[in-house]
Amino acid sequence: MNILIIGAGGREHALAWTLAKSPSVDRIFCAPGNGGIAAVATCVDIDVMDFSGLIGLCRAEEIEFVVVGPEAPLVEGLVDQLTSEGIPAFGPSAAAAQLEGSKGFTKDLCARHNIPTAAYGRFTDVDQAKAYIVQQGAPIVVKADGLAAGKGVIVAQTLDQALIAVDEIFAGAFGAAGAEVVIEECLIGEEASFFALVDGEHCLALASAQDHKPVGDGDVGPNTGGMGAYSPAPVIDDAMHNRIMDEIIRPTVSAMASEGHPFNGVLFAGLMITDKGPELIEYNTRFGDPECQALMSRLDSDLLPALMATADGSLDKIELSWRDEAALVVVMAARGYPGAYNKGSRIRNLDTAGELPGINVFHAGTAKKDEDIIATGGRVLGVTARAPDVALAQSLAYEAVDVIDWPEGFCRRDIGWRAIDRA
Ligand code: AMP
Ligand code: GLY
Repeated sequence: MNILIIGAGGREHALAWTLAKSPSVDRIFCAPGNGGIAAVATCVDIDVMDFSGLIGLCRAEEIEFVVVGPEAPLVEGLVDQLTSEGIPAFGPSAAAAQLEGSKGFTKDLCARHNIPTAAYGRFTDVDQAKAYIVQQGAPIVVKADGLAAGKGVIVAQTLDQALIAVDEIFAGAFGAAGAEVVIEECLIGEEASFFALVDGEHCLALASAQDHKPVGDGDVGPNTGGMGAYSPAPVIDDAMHNRIMDEIIRPTVSAMASEGHPFNGVLFAGLMITDKGPELIEYNTRFGDPECQALMSRLDSDLLPALMATADGSLDKIELSWRDEAALVVVMAARGYPGAYNKGSRIRNLDTAGELPGINVFHAGTAKKDEDIIATGGRVLGVTARAPDVALAQSLAYEAVDVIDWPEGFCRRDIGWRAIDRA
């Protein structure tokens, strides 16, 4: 069958590379795609928010299944539109994507169903928000309610920082996403990501991962979309895995169904593993980027039937097997990211790096120009290694990074340090 992948990042490259191995797939299209995806799919220059353009492409190319990568089209209802056109798709309805699209929605759902998460308040009034902060004390976390590309969260160490954050959010620092503010207790522990496929009723746990959000070595500096990741996350052992499924994932899936907006797609729980156990920091309703690159490197089964089962309710019939190995992704970004950066520099030796054993170089912000690959984004490459353990995966990944000739790029040099310290 022909399938369409929506998105342009490293996550979508990893999904395209994985789905290209499926015996049921004839042709893969990707909108809009990137310079690396073009090697495994036909890239079509349609924006992820151009729903009528995407539906037209589905008709023209006889697409039988659509895989939606990023959150913005999910929250705006792309899957609802595809479904009403009779085109099955991987991803939640707009109503179910509120789990990512509105932090307040998720906090209220957790409160109604006793799902462990930080204590919180929701505010649309500046004075009430500030009074709550003063009453709770610091450290405290201030969040814009809506989608803010991962930037709408301020972990305030002092009352002043928290009060300033409230002013900034209400003054429009994150646009419409900041019409409401959520203020939360600051959780202490180790963060981890947990992924489960969901078909409205059944859940199939995938694997755990950890990412590195800050731009600098040692986890310092401003947050980014993610400078690297690895899977599995050693902090999630079997007992913790079971607690996460029993206390967080399954109760959420039942709650969404019983409240009339069943969740289909992949549920990505951002967790804090505290002294008391797992607590939900936030949900995302799509694969993580770069976590997806690590997960796909470890997957040993055909992904397509599992994604299709999330849409048709048959996930209880699916089993996935995973390589008993670690995978680690080092993100190479344009110098200046997450601030201003230049575009258009040429990247060399990608093929040589990609031929090293255990290595996949997934593209994020690249384009193909004649025979060259050029950088077009902030996060540009995800150099991904698979190896028997995370320390070996780390050294392999950096070997490949050092083969890539791109003076205008940089990466962190310590991806995986927490897992390696623990071993
Ligand atoms: P989010 O965009 O919700 O993933 O938040 C970004 C980052 O802020 C998370 O990865 C955490 O490091 C941190 N964070 C968010 N909420 C909390 C919380 N309640 N307690 C501690 N840290 C938090
Ligand atoms: N790497 C974190 C995210 O995809 O949101």
